[in-house]
Amino acid sequence: MAKVHEAYGIKVVINERKADWKPKFLSEEEIKSTRKFHTTMDGYKATPLVSLENLAKQLGVSKIYVKDESYRFGLNAFKALGVTYAIAKLLCEKLDVDIDSVGFDYFKLPEVAEKIKDMVFVTATDGNHGKAVAWTATQLGCKSIVYMPKGSSLRRVQTIKEAGAKVYITEVNYDDTVRLAKQKAEEIGGFLVQDTAWEGYEKIPNWICRGYTTMAAEALDQMKLDGIIRPTHVFLQAGVGSFAGAVLGYYVNVFKDQCPITIIVEPEKAACIYKSALINDNNPHSVTGDLDTIMAGLACGEPNIVTWEILRDFAGAYVSCPDYVAAKGMRVLANPTGSDRKVVSGESGAVGLGLVSLLLEREELKELKNKLQLDEHSVILCFSTEGDTDPEDYKKVVDDGKNPSIFE
Ligand SMILES: Cc1ncc(COP(=O)(O)O)c(C=O)c1O
Repeated sequence: MAKVHEAYGIKVVINERKADWKPKFLSEEEIKSTRKFHTTMDGYKATPLVSLENLAKQLGVSKIYVKDESYRFGLNAFKALGVTYAIAKLLCEKLDVDIDSVGFDYFKLPEVAEKIKDMVFVTATDGNHGKAVAWTATQLGCKSIVYMPKGSSLRRVQTIKEAGAKVYITEVNYDDTVRLAKQKAEEIGGFLVQDTAWEGYEKIPNWICRGYTTMAAEALDQMKLDGIIRPTHVFLQAGVGSFAGAVLGYYVNVFKDQCPITIIVEPEKAACIYKSALINDNNPHSVTGDLDTIMAGLACGEPNIVTWEILRDFAGAYVSCPDYVAAKGMRVLANPTGSDRKVVSGESGAVGLGLVSLLLEREELKELKNKLQLDEHSVILCFSTEGDTDPEDYKKVVDDGKNPSIFE
């Protein structure tokens, strides 16, 4: 077992490993075509990278950047980056064309649309991924079926229906809902587009991960314009770990031995990556039960087996967070310091920044801050992966003070 450093419910495991391999499927060479593909899409635009100058000054670090994914394709979350690329790759395989030779609109040409119109995409989701699958399928004139775990937000269900999918709420948690979606896809001859990998199902989730690298690459370009070549710290929140593994895997390829210290952040009731790092036997481990947290997008108990290896070997630390950390991040981003720009960030988007602000501001957390090597030279990058995807809950946290910080 690895050692745990704990304060106020925040638990940190430091990674002592040194690895010398590179995740090839996320190499700069491989992902060039991914970014090129995204740029062919209507509405593609790099999302804002917000530099919180005043907050950084107040908290005593060099820079705090937040990539605001609420602007992605007007969908309020980053997920369509993965889904559009994966579905495009799937269609290219079916149609026997090279993705480098076509753009998104190719699939809408009448003679192509005719060939794909009966395809049905099936998935399980906490919300954002399912909305992206529905949105993509609808644009292509295809059908989509989306399964959601019990207790799913009715607002999110409604949004996915509006995006064109048939939606079913199950009686089980996220991970069992994924198994159900797989079974249903097999029964109806549909195509499972799932954002997590398991033994024998790796190709599509790996394409999804490649899709996520577009935002990681955009962030580096945007930092360069601000004179920054490399962040010192990257905070990545994890559900199954596909997003975090994709971004980290890409940065390992870009920065090699100089990769930023990357901190994986999870809700305490669904901290499967943290648990796997804690057990420290090389293998991914699951968390079961209701996975109860306000961070709906991170309420996943079983790690992606491919990205787990990236997170295991290259992350600097793994953090399990109570819900108050996410709520703190949402409020800090909603109420900017001085002239800093406001970021509307939902529960699963804000937890990284929430952790950053608590570590830097609270004397009680100083030992954890030091363990993560945060100091006045730090250049911090966070990804706000969603906006107010459940506006009512967002309001409760930001305006009504739900989930108050333990220190308030
Ligand atoms: C807003 C948001 N952020 C982060 C994640 C985490 O992604 P992953 O499950 O790949 O770890 C999700 C997943 O649904 C999400 O919706």
